[in-house]
Order: sequence, then structure tokens, then C-alpha cells
Amino acid sequence: MAAVDVIPTVSEETNLLRFITCGSVDDGKSTLLGRLLYDAGMVPEDQLAALARDSRKLHADAPDALDFSLLTDGLDAERQQGITIDVAYRYFHTSRRSFIVADCPGHEQYTRNMATGASTAQLAVVLVDARKGLLPQTRRHSYICALMGIRQVVLAVNKMDLVDCREDIYAAIAHEYRELAVQLGITTVHCLPVVAPTGDNVGKPSTRMPWYQGPTLVELLEAADTAVAQGVDFRMPVQWVNRPDASFRGYAGTICGGKLAVGAEVVVQPAMRRARVERIVTADGDLQEATVGQAVTLTLDREIDVSRGDVIADALRPAPVADQFAAHILWMGDEPLLPNRAYWLKIGSRTVNARVTSIKHKVDVNTQAELAARRLDLNEVGYCNIDLDHAIAFESYEANRTLGAFILIDRTTNATVGCGMLDFALRRATNVHWQHTDLNKDARSVSKGQQPRCLWFTGLSGAGKSTIANLVERRLHSLGYHTYMLDGDNLRHGLNKDLGFTPEARVENVRRVAEVAHLMVDAGLIVLVCVISPFQSERRFARSLFGQGEFVEVFVDTTLEECERRDPKGLYRKARAGEILTFTGIDSPYEVPDDAELRLRTSGLRPEQLAEQVVEQLLSGQTDSRH
Ligand code: ADX
Repeated sequence: MAAVDVIPTVSEETNLLRFITCGSVDDGKSTLLGRLLYDAGMVPEDQLAALARDSRKLHADAPDALDFSLLTDGLDAERQQGITIDVAYRYFHTSRRSFIVADCPGHEQYTRNMATGASTAQLAVVLVDARKGLLPQTRRHSYICALMGIRQVVLAVNKMDLVDCREDIYAAIAHEYRELAVQLGITTVHCLPVVAPTGDNVGKPSTRMPWYQGPTLVELLEAADTAVAQGVDFRMPVQWVNRPDASFRGYAGTICGGKLAVGAEVVVQPAMRRARVERIVTADGDLQEATVGQAVTLTLDREIDVSRGDVIADALRPAPVADQFAAHILWMGDEPLLPNRAYWLKIGSRTVNARVTSIKHKVDVNTQAELAARRLDLNEVGYCNIDLDHAIAFESYEANRTLGAFILIDRTTNATVGCGMLDFALRRATNVHWQHTDLNKDARSVSKGQQPRCLWFTGLSGAGKSTIANLVERRLHSLGYHTYMLDGDNLRHGLNKDLGFTPEARVENVRRVAEVAHLMVDAGLIVLVCVISPFQSERRFARSLFGQGEFVEVFVDTTLEECERRDPKGLYRKARAGEILTFTGIDSPYEVPDDAELRLRTSGLRPEQLAEQVVEQLLSGQTDSRH
């Protein structure tokens, strides 16, 4: 899936309502949407003629009726052909207001599409079939809408003609839905009975249901509240720093909370540098005041360090700053979310490294039941703890959709794999500080007379990682270097005793080993790490902990056939016999490195020769005179 920005953009046009339609073909969603466009006068003459023609062809029994679903059926046609679809946005207007409607398919496998559509919507039209009442999908759609911050719902009870326009049936469905809405935190619910094909209560009041005296769907949409969650305190994420010449330095962005006047004191977060606003510049000239939704460029009264991704906030009421959160995550990736795997997290215009440290529970989207989970699969929602490598200024999603929404991006493919809503900062985030020490890595390396390094050996079990690393270490030791070997099997007897071989466990195993190696390099050592480390993502993470040139990835490239032939521990035989499950190379993947500093093709070479290649590579990077 291509990167989609689910972070809402606040429209400057206040008389614009963004809404989403929820339902499936069977509920009559396409027909309702088509009818809505028709009643709003948005279907041009030629399209109308084509519609009449196509309707006649399809429905010989009712030659004069228009099949409005044909106007909007594009998505369903695509779906039937198995084409990946996103969200279709349609624009229309009435004499009173403009609308952007997000139309997305309603099936469970398209939950991520619905979340994308809902993330910018102020209202949802939830459709139910009067004959069927509330279905699990009604609950799912409403839950996703609520999760994405929608607090207004119009419940359209459709196909009323097929239940003889009975008020009691409608009333029972409306009552049940209102109860659901309370559970989900949806504060405003309007219910109405409709017959989509004939437009009853869509654009005009129905004559068949005189017991309903409320507004039509169009009237409801025209009157709906267009506000989105934004706090009252001034907030603006810096989108870019505008510095055309030495005399001008402005910070451009869209105000996502509160308002601002020239002279106001602001604070640049997360570094908390204070300044006063000197000018509020826009394309149409300077302003004295600006408010939420406006795109502006600010200049400050003093030179302070401001960069893209910072948040400029009210100095008296700044946004909270933290690096650990509880958040809801909706997973959009084809590969599962694995706790402890590193992802990019993009919030506002800032991107940081993030990992999910634990999944508190996942939510059954159809019933809202909370279930235990070790991973999140495509379209699943989880309540998670997240850890960032940098503190950020944020708001809860409930309070501010811009500063509380984030997306997760796969570091290898750059695809958007999840979207999330921040709930609150975990207390430990603000209570644990980095303790400064006077001695640093440089001092420690100088006293050891060497440049610390992490030699990371990766490859299949039995490839020869430990054998080669052992020879390398002996050689380095004899040359007077200070070394330490971290071997996967050995660590699994102590530090990693609690971990098995599921993908989740391997992610955590490699993370811990990488962190230990990082500490040892900080201590000034040359560390030799031997772990299968089958996933590219975790090897990349390990690399990211080290400075330029400090991390040397050595791919011990031995074919599976050869490893299996050697089988030093008899494990391949057991794996083939089904006695060990998820064995790397057999029924668990090994992702071949494409950015290793050294690739040891082991075939036909003795371990000593291979070790020599590693030593040479390492010593070429050492600047001391020992060799
Ligand atoms: S890793 O995948 O998490 O990096 P690690 O290098 O720590 O693995 O441990 C791999 C060692 O555990 C192998 O050399 C082998 O001796 C042993 N082992 C036991 N079960 C498995 C398995 N299912 N898959 C791979 N290695 C296994």
C-alpha cells in the first residue's frame, strides 16, 4: 500500500462538511450516495440520460426507474475484479453547503480504507437495512468511526418500503443504535428512515412515512457541526523553515489549535525555547491575529533553533512532551505488527523511530471485545504502549486530531503500515532522565588504544558464524585488541532465556543483543555478535544504534543445503522430522542482507581463510599502529 497521510488537514472553508458513508452494497449504500448526488443536482444532463439508458437495460421490469447505484458503483466493480482500492472522495454541494464524501467499501478486509476515509471526516452516515437491523458490520463501522474521532453519526435506516414503512421497526433499530453509540462515545446521533431509490427522506420528506417529521438527510448534512477536535490553546506544527535570504527567517505551518496574535509569547517544542511572535505572514499580507485552520508563516523576535517537525505553542499552556505513550493502533500492513520491531512514526511533520513495547489487548472490531494478542494482523486494532527514540510535543487524539494522530511506516519498504491515535503519555516517560557521565566512549577507546566496533555476523544456523567469529576474536586478542563475543546460543542460556523462535521472539532477541552490543561498543570494545538475525528490519535497527563505520555487517553466506549437510547440532534433522517448529530456512524465513559490508561465500574456503577476510576488513578501519 502506498503511503497515505491519514493526518487530517483542517479546511479553511468552514462551510465544508467532510463525511463518510458506512455500509455495504447490500445495505443500499451506492444507491443512497447516487440519490444524494442526484437530489443535490450534481448529475449533469448527459450522465442522467446515460443513467436512464443503463437502468432500462438492467431492469426491464421497471423501465422508468433510475438505478442510482450505477452512479457510484465504481468501487464495487473494482472490488469484484480484485483490484486494490483506496477511498473514493466525491465532491458536491447544495445551495447551503459544500461536501466531500469519502466512499469506501464496507467489508472487514477494507477496514484500513475505512479508517483512512474516517480520519478526516466530521460525520458518518451509517446505513442499515430495515429488514436486518444492526449487524456486526454496523458495529464495526461505528467503532472504526469512533476510533478515528467521529462524534456525529446519521443513522439511515434504509429499505423502509420493504418493511411496509413500519414505525415500530424503525424505532427499535434507532433505539438499539443509540445504545451502541453511547458505548462507543459517539455523542450526536440523528436517526431517519429512508428509501434510497425513490429518495424518501433523502432530498425530500417522505409521503409514505408521515410518522417521521424530522429533517431529511440533505437537511441533516447541511446543519451538521463542521468542527473537528482542536484544543483552545495555540498550536502549530512547523512544516518548513522559510529562509529565502539572511534577512528573513519564517516558520510555516497550519495552525491546528487555538489562535495567535502578534506579540504573543510562544514556546518551540520539544526543546522549550521561548520567543515572541514578531509577524504573522500570509500570501495576502501580514495579519495581526490568526486562528485554527489558517496556513501562516511566523517570524520570531529572536534567533532560536527551530526545525521542521517542531511545534510552536502557547508559552503559558504548552503541549505535553513525552516519548512513551498508550495509543490505539489500526494495523494496515500485510506483514503483522511485531512488538519491539522498529518503525518510523510520523506525527504532524515530525518523523521519529518507534517501537510498540507491548500490546495491552487487541479489539475484536465486530464486538469490541478485548482479546489478548502478541501481534496485530492486517485490519486489526490494538491498544499498545509505544516507545519513541525522541520526545515529541503531542495532544491526545481526543483533544486534537492533528497532534494526536500518527502513522507508522515500515523502514524497509517505506509503506504506511499503521495509523494510530495517542491516548496519554506513560508516566515513566517524564520521570526517567538520561544520567550524564563524565567519561565517554572516546575516552574509553583512547585508553584501550582502539576504535570500538560491532562486527555483526548473520546467517543460517550452522553457517559458520560462531566458528569464524571465534577465530577472528583469537586473532584480534593476540594482536592486543580488547574484544568480546556475544553468541546467540550462549545468550539464550541467560539474558534471552525467556525467548523462543516465533518471529516476535526473534525480534526481541535481536533487539536485546543489539542493545548489549551497543553498550559494549560504548565501553570501547570490539564486539563480535553471532545471531541468525533473520530479518532485515532488526539488522537495520541494530545498525541504527551505531555511528558511521562502527557497525560491520558480515553475511556468512552458506547455502541451506550445505548447512543441512553439516548439521553440527542435529537440529536440521529434527526440524525436517517436525520435532522443531519454525526453524530458520525450513519453515521460518531468512531475509538475505543486501547491505552487508562483507559477504563471506564460505563454499570451498577454510574457516581460517574466512576469518582472515574479516580481520583484514576490520584492521583497514583501525588507525592505530599495532598491525
Ligand atoms: S535468532 O533467529 O533469534 O537470531 P539465535 O541466533 O539467537 O536466533 O539462535 C539460533 C540458534 O538457536 C541456532 O543456532 C540453533 O542452534 C538454535 N535453535 C533452536 N531452535 C531454533 C529454530 N527454531 N530456529 C533457528 N535456530 C534454532
